[in-house]
Amino acid sequence: MSAYDKLEVELRASPRTWLVTGVAGFIGSNLLERLLKLDQRVIGLDNFATGKEANLTEVKGLVAPKQWDRFQFHRGDLADAAACQRACAGVELVLHQAALGSVPRSLDDPLASHTANVTGFLNLLVAARDAKVRRFVYASSSAVYGDSPELPKIEERIGQPLSPYAATKWMNEIYAGVFHRAYGMETSGLRYFNVFGPRQDPEGAYAAVIPKWIAAMLRRETVRINGDGSTSRDFCYVENVVQANLLAATTPHAEARNQVYNVAVGQRTTLNELFDLLQQTLRRREPGLPLQQPAYGDFRPGDVRHSLADIGKAQRLLGYAPAFRIEVGLERAMDWYRRHSG
Ligand SMILES: NC(=O)c1ccc[n+]([C@@H]2O[C@H](COP(=O)([O-])OP(=O)(O)OC[C@H]3O[C@@H](n4cnc5c(N)ncnc54)[C@H](O)[C@@H]3O)[C@@H](O)[C@H]2O)c1
Repeated sequence: MSAYDKLEVELRASPRTWLVTGVAGFIGSNLLERLLKLDQRVIGLDNFATGKEANLTEVKGLVAPKQWDRFQFHRGDLADAAACQRACAGVELVLHQAALGSVPRSLDDPLASHTANVTGFLNLLVAARDAKVRRFVYASSSAVYGDSPELPKIEERIGQPLSPYAATKWMNEIYAGVFHRAYGMETSGLRYFNVFGPRQDPEGAYAAVIPKWIAAMLRRETVRINGDGSTSRDFCYVENVVQANLLAATTPHAEARNQVYNVAVGQRTTLNELFDLLQQTLRRREPGLPLQQPAYGDFRPGDVRHSLADIGKAQRLLGYAPAFRIEVGLERAMDWYRRHSG
């Protein structure tokens, strides 16, 4: 039995009270779904900046009515300290996902990213400290590795951030460390590498590459690759991310707390390879889709050229064992993407 299988049994037997921020977003709503399916009590906070009511409705349809009754939603903004205090009342474990994602968005409007991702983060940390929350797990990002050329990425060795977004996530790690040292809070940061899966928004200027390309392919539009396609990423299916959050929030091992972890698969895929994989996976379902060639453009400012995680630390300390490689994740997510794009 894996550490995660054991944990699921244990959580079912003794449910906890969780706060999931960003609960109406992509990763937050996947955490909500898993926690409710494990009979947990969940409080959710979201201001619908990028999240959607439809994500919550979808989760409602995927869980039993009595599991849904264990969910309490707070519409509120992280920038509002009182909203953070209300959301933390009675909470044992926090999974903090709310933030403004996307490197280009932060380059367009650094102040908005700072307000949500740094001021909001600090408000929530203070609220969690005051509510005596047991564990505070938060979404960091592989963007923190910045200009470090080293591969694979190892937690201890980061470079200089290349975007305001990366700076905000680095700041999160600094504040979480300070709250551990100054107030004895237990915090763990998860550096997610490109996450994908159901409920990831395919629309808008700041959409992530996988849903954006699938939507373009379905509309029979040419896919645009930034750069020559050699840019590489460690794409991580969302259920791996859910596993990492639950393990980090509940680990009984003292040495596994107050750490920062890479959350990925440890599998490198270039954008050219991703393009082929998406096209093959889609055309198996829709053989009528024309075989297309991508169009190549300039590299995008602020983007890291190559990204690949060493996931040894999470494996060793948390028992993290990503069950889904990119091919499997795409098979599982493709029908959702097809229903929601094009
Ligand atoms: N998706 C990825 O590949 C990825 C990679 C690295 C890190 N992350 C981080 O993971 C977290 C979740 O990302 P996601 O992909 O689910 O994005 P998302 O945009 O789908 O979800 C973020 C949620 O936070 C909410 N939110 C934003 N600002 C808020 C505020 N001020 N107050 C309350 N709610 C607010 C949004 O409405 C949304 O529902 C973010 O912290 C993001 O930076 C994501």
